[in-house]
Amino acid sequence: MEFVRLLLVFLHLLGMGMLIAMFFVQRRSGTDAPLNKGWLHGSALQLLTGVALMGLAPLTDQDYNDIKIGVKLLVLVVIAALVAVNLKKRPAAWLTPVLAGLVVLNVGLAVFWT
Ligand code: HEM
Repeated sequence: MEFVRLLLVFLHLLGMGMLIAMFFVQRRSGTDAPLNKGWLHGSALQLLTGVALMGLAPLTDQDYNDIKIGVKLLVLVVIAALVAVNLKKRPAAWLTPVLAGLVVLNVGLAVFWT
């Protein structure tokens, strides 16, 4: 079971990397480019792996901080909602810095909130 947890953490970290990468991809694409679908895929990966880690916690002997995970989930819902609403539109200039800021906020919560 420990291997499954590590595999999920591995995918969770790749998902984080993907979301950070999307910020730079979006910048390279220019201000007229529509929002890259990678934002949606990265968010979905974070949601799936995060929920799976939580669901498997009794089997993997983990004792996660429920409030912290709840706040992370809320931040991710905001990210996914902003992406979904703006997917077909020309993104506003503030959108990608805000999305990247929210991703970094979740990394900070994951690491510093014990
Ligand atoms: C943008 C969204 C997210 C980012 C960037 C993110 C980032 C991270 C990072 C960097 C870690 C590793 C922390 C460490 O090992 O010290 C982590 C761990 C974790 N995350 Fe997330 N996370 C996100 C969303 C979520 C969501 C939505 C959930 C649950 C619903 C979740 C559940 C977890 C759990 C349970 C762990 C601990 C894994 C373990 O060490 O066993 N995450 N997250």
